[in-house]
Amino acid sequence: MTEHKQPATIVIFGASGDLTRRKLIPALFRLCRQNLLPAPFQVVGFAVTEWDTAEFRRQMRGGVDEFAREPFSEAEWQTFAERLHYTPGGFTEAADFAHLRQFLEATEGELSHRLYYLATPPRFFADIIAQLGAAGMAQDVYCETGSMAHVPGSAPGQTAWRRVIIEKPFGRDLASAQALNQAVHAVLAEHQIYRIDHYLAKETVQNILVFRFANTMFEPIWNRNYIDHVQITVAEAVDVGHRAGYYDQAGVLRDMFQNHLMQLLALVGMEPPASFDANAIRDEKVKTMRAVRPLTPTELANQTVRAQYEGYGATAGVVANSQTPTYAALELYIDNWRWQGVPFYLRSGKALAQKTSEIIIQFKRPPHIMFPVSLDGPLRSNYLALCIQPHEGFHQRFEVKVPGREIAMRPVDMDFHYDDAFVPDSVPEAYETLLLNALEGDATLFTRSDGIEAAWRVIDSVLQGWETDDAPPLTTYRPGSWGPAAADELLGRNGRFWRHGCLDT
Ligand code: BG6
Repeated sequence: MTEHKQPATIVIFGASGDLTRRKLIPALFRLCRQNLLPAPFQVVGFAVTEWDTAEFRRQMRGGVDEFAREPFSEAEWQTFAERLHYTPGGFTEAADFAHLRQFLEATEGELSHRLYYLATPPRFFADIIAQLGAAGMAQDVYCETGSMAHVPGSAPGQTAWRRVIIEKPFGRDLASAQALNQAVHAVLAEHQIYRIDHYLAKETVQNILVFRFANTMFEPIWNRNYIDHVQITVAEAVDVGHRAGYYDQAGVLRDMFQNHLMQLLALVGMEPPASFDANAIRDEKVKTMRAVRPLTPTELANQTVRAQYEGYGATAGVVANSQTPTYAALELYIDNWRWQGVPFYLRSGKALAQKTSEIIIQFKRPPHIMFPVSLDGPLRSNYLALCIQPHEGFHQRFEVKVPGREIAMRPVDMDFHYDDAFVPDSVPEAYETLLLNALEGDATLFTRSDGIEAAWRVIDSVLQGWETDDAPPLTTYRPGSWGPAAADELLGRNGRFWRHGCLDT
């Protein structure tokens, strides 16, 4: 019996919120239909909203009707819905946690594992974990030898695990992330903690590891000798919409850079781990993030761009005269042998021309061009585009000879797309992968405490610098454009330009 086929309960804190309805329940339902969930399993919703189980099931049905990826039968829904329960409660109310504990003990077997999912606003994370600790619900359960012999699948000394998935954002700066890590570690051991970054579950993001370390042809050139620079773009077409209240307090650096962009930088920049083990991989990622050079005040002014889309200030929920950037571009350097002197350009923003997440590995020009051709632009050279979304795949750009008697060259693309090579839509949704991995105890795609803090150290230095006179001016950009002119100038100064290697532009 594999571990996830043992009984388990998934307790969702914040079960009446948007994330549960939009992502978690549709993901669990799909996993259930694929027979990938523990057996038996139950899902227990906990939130302040005064629902009962019938109402919870009704609301979740609305969620799957809207967000399920494929049609399903009524019988399939009923099988799943019978496993959904709800107990209302406050995140700081000891009595409500005692009630939750009673409910769990009455409904699950003694050897049931438990996954707690913190899908609440971040201000409740520490409270919920403290309450779980105080209620005696946080510790892994070690059975006394032989006492569980009557439970099918049990063994003397077997553990019933307790794991906690913590949503983002994890802290709003380095100090608060450290404080939260301390509060969490006061109750839980690190092996019980699964800090989410849904970017890590995207198929192409995971494929960066396979691409780099299961092929021999890329690794020898993956360094400062052959690579001119790296671009990491996470562009969104949507504006802040109904999340303006949260977003105005956060801004693009906290919302996108500290987590998603720093994780991408770590995966592209890391050294080869010795094994495909969660800690071996996370060790290398942390080393890379720790090697990112902090920006001096002058570099801060010259190597960072911050901007806000026109009209942002008029959005409901945004404070008057808000200085919150909705776009940022950074030029960072990794101080180690592999990357010394190679700029990593990171950019992300809302209300941009198109949704695209991509990484460009821009190779150097050939050292000598023997052909009698004029190559316009200093960077007409090979690049590799890792397309993370929406069309997952890779593009490799290289020069070919144009047919004919003259020597003329033209750049062409060689590409691979998941949807061409595999069954379309076979790529699992990020939350399905993350939930399953947490149930199976695989923490590879989750962030460890030192990784969170290493990423914050980089982003905090920019956040703090932007509070001083060294900050670059907050510029604006037109919604639907590719961002402010200052971001083009950031690369243009060195004869470089932003690429869209994955879009047909
Ligand atoms: C979230 C951010 O982490 O990522 C959102 O809080 C953003 O602001 C979202 O829209 C983007 O995720 P994806 O998967 O759509 O690229």
